[in-house]
Parts: sequence; C-alpha cells; structure tokens
Amino acid sequence: MRRLLLRSPQHTLHPKLPRLLPLPFRRGEGWGEGLLGVVYPAVLAVLAVLLACFAVQPCSAREPKESDKDLIYDEARVPAYDLPPLLVSSEGKSITTPDEWFHLRRPQIMSLFGNLLYGTVPAPESPLKVTSVVVQTDNQFMNGLATRKDVRIRFNNAKGKAEMLILVFVPNNASNPLPAFLMLSFDSTHGSGFNADRSRPGLLRNGVPIKEFFKRGFGFVAVYQQDLVGHNEVEFLSSIHHLFYREGQSFPKAYEWGVISAIAWSASRALDYLATDHDIDSARVAILGHSKCGKAALWAAAQDQRFALAISAESGHPGAALSRRKSGETLDKMVTRFPYWLCRNAWKFANHEDDLPVDQHMLLACIAPRPLYVMSGVDDRWADPRGEYLSAYHASAVYRLLGKKGLETEASPPVGEAIIKSDVGYHVREGGHSIQMFDWLRFLEFGEYHLRGETTDRHR
Ligand code: GCU
Repeated sequence: MRRLLLRSPQHTLHPKLPRLLPLPFRRGEGWGEGLLGVVYPAVLAVLAVLLACFAVQPCSAREPKESDKDLIYDEARVPAYDLPPLLVSSEGKSITTPDEWFHLRRPQIMSLFGNLLYGTVPAPESPLKVTSVVVQTDNQFMNGLATRKDVRIRFNNAKGKAEMLILVFVPNNASNPLPAFLMLSFDSTHGSGFNADRSRPGLLRNGVPIKEFFKRGFGFVAVYQQDLVGHNEVEFLSSIHHLFYREGQSFPKAYEWGVISAIAWSASRALDYLATDHDIDSARVAILGHSKCGKAALWAAAQDQRFALAISAESGHPGAALSRRKSGETLDKMVTRFPYWLCRNAWKFANHEDDLPVDQHMLLACIAPRPLYVMSGVDDRWADPRGEYLSAYHASAVYRLLGKKGLETEASPPVGEAIIKSDVGYHVREGGHSIQMFDWLRFLEFGEYHLRGETTDRHR
C-alpha cells in the first residue's frame, strides 16, 4: 500500500477530513437518489477504505531515496566489519574500571564524536546573555487537567540574538516537582500542533498522547528542532551559530557544530530553564526524539549528563545504528542530502566508515550509566533496525562495567516484545517510520521503571 508522505513522523491526517469531502459525497444532502443511489455507496466505500489507510494508520514517511538501488537492505549483504574497541584507550590501554572509563576512555570518545561527526560548540567570543520568561500560562489545559506554560528563552550578545519557545505541560493536582519527558520535536511549538485535540480526547493535535504522561505523573516538555537552526541549514548566517563566530568568521569550521549539534545544544538550554522551574524535577528529565531528533537526543544525552534518561526512536544513521553495517542510510547518503546535519569533517568518512575511530555503539555507551531506550520499526529499513539493536547491545559492555544491566543477547528480541527492566532497553515493532501508541506506552513504562522506581509492565 502506498503510504502518505508527510514531513512530520507523528502526523496522521486530521480526523475531521471526512467533513471536507465535496457535497456529492456526503450522506443526507439530497444526492443519494437514482443512479447516484447505486454509484454513491460504492464511491463512499472506496473513499472509506482510502481514508482508513491514510487517517487511521500512523503515517510512515517513505521517501524516494529509500528505494535507491545502491542500498543494502538484505542482511546477507551487510559487509564484514570490525568495531573500533570501546574499552581500549587510544593509547592501547585496556579499560577495566569505572574510573578509567570516566576519566580516560569516555573523554577520548566524546572528543572524537565532537570533532569528527557532530561538531563541537565553540566558546562565543562575546559572552552570551540568556533570559527565560514565561510568556503565557494556561492552567485549564485539557479541561483543567494540566497547566501549559509557554517559555521564551532568548540569547543575545554583541553578534546578534536568537530565541526559542519551549512548552512545559504539568498535570494539575500532582505533587510537584515532577519527572518529565523532554521531546525534541518536528512540530513547531509556535503552531497549533501542541494544542489539545478536541476530537481525540487525551491527544495533542500532533498525535502525542499527553494524557498518558499526566496519568503517570510526568510532565512533558516540547522543544522545537528548528527554533535555532533550519532543518537543512546550509548558510549558518541567521542560525544560533552566528552568535558564536569569531572575528572574520562566517561559517562553522570543519570540526564545529552542524545542525544536529545545534539541536542538542537547544535541549541543554531548555534543561537550564527547567532547573529553575519548580514544577519540574530537573534531575529526572528524560530526553526523547524521533529520527533526526533521535540523533540529536542521543548526542545531547551523551554530552549533557544532567539528562537522566535517553530515548532514541528510529534514529538510524548516525543515531543509534552502527555505521559500519552500511545498511539502509549510509554516511554518504546522509552528507549528500543533508550536508550540514553533521560537521564538515564527517564528509571525509563517507564511503570510508571503517576509517572512523568510532561507531555508534560508542555514543550510546557515553550515556551510561543512565538508562537508555532504543526503539526500531521492522519496516523502517532506512534506519537499520538490526543495526540499532546491535549498537545498543555492544554499548551494554560499558553499562556492565558500571554495574548496570545491559542487553544480554546478540539476537534482537521478538517483534513487539519490549525490554524494560534493563538499563539498556529496546523494542522493535511492526511498521515503519513513526512513533505509534505502542511506542509511547513502552517509553512511559521505561520512564516509570527507571525514573520512578515502579512499573506496570509485564515485559522482561
Ligand atoms: C531522512 C534522513 C534520516 C532522518 C529522517 C528523519 O530520512 O535521511 O537520517 O532520520 O529524514 O528525520 O525523519
């Protein structure tokens, strides 16, 4: 079945769509007589099927590039590869203690990811002034169930200014401060996507089942991925980067931050604000992102150890998936379509992934000992579900070194079975590139188990 192509993975067609049908296709409007009385029900039936396909199913974006002839989707064609050693330092020393991990190997790995893949954030020449203001409060959100705060965070210095708008939702009548999920979002915080959906109780208009968060005593925070940098930025003149340029600089250096790194930076700035918000317990904030935002969520969690937990939903390459498998999207595909999602140094490794001194299991390992959840979709082959699992599996060595529980088997778990009671959690479910209700509920279970010390799950 052809799937609808929509930019935002969380979107489904609006449930009011049937009402937009032209008059002849509506019942009870005087058109259902004579010949039309026969044709009309048939047309309606076909339309109903089409609408069911598009409106009821969570939309999975399939893009033309996913059918490129040179892609590897067949497990038998995945090349043999050696992963760079996780627990051996650049100097060849075996890492056998938490102290060696934290003080020797982890900093090396983080520096490699920063300088070669995502790009580092330079120190601004002119000091950055940051101000946060709650610009709007609605304590009657969803008929009084929760409070929504719109918070504007402004940055300025001698080079210019930038701002982001984050949304903070907290259930009313809860004993604050609450743990929260911070979502890096494709939906703008400035638009209506985060309004309550009147026709689908408990959901936001963008499909997030926010009531489920409230029911479990979680706050929910939305950070818009494009507030500080364009989706496929190529100029970096008006993005957050311009506040950080040195005299005479007008473009990031080859090792300086690209788009994903800027999104990760915005997550940390949102967390700075949350540390001042008495409704949220900033020591229990989980960061979550899908796809491109999943890549950013992982990079943010690795860098900013204040994030208590990280969830990567179908983050693919270069998020959770191993690059060396070259399965689905490769580094070459990424830097061709999205040249500056990573830093310019990353280009040098396109088609030479084996020359990289890191692979993505090392990024996941840098999140340890904090709980990490990786989610895949069977049909989301562009994001390499198997590579996402293997990466989490290999990262588990560091979790074990730090006395935590990791993934125990190299085989991926059965489809639809979630691993929750482990510091490295995982599930792969039927379907493609989207966050579905099954996924949201597993994320919440993982959050409940690890951030609240309780669980309702029946999973292992
Ligand atoms: C593209 C891109 C992926 C990315 C995805 C998304 O498909 O190639 O790397 O994850 O967009 O963000 O939805």
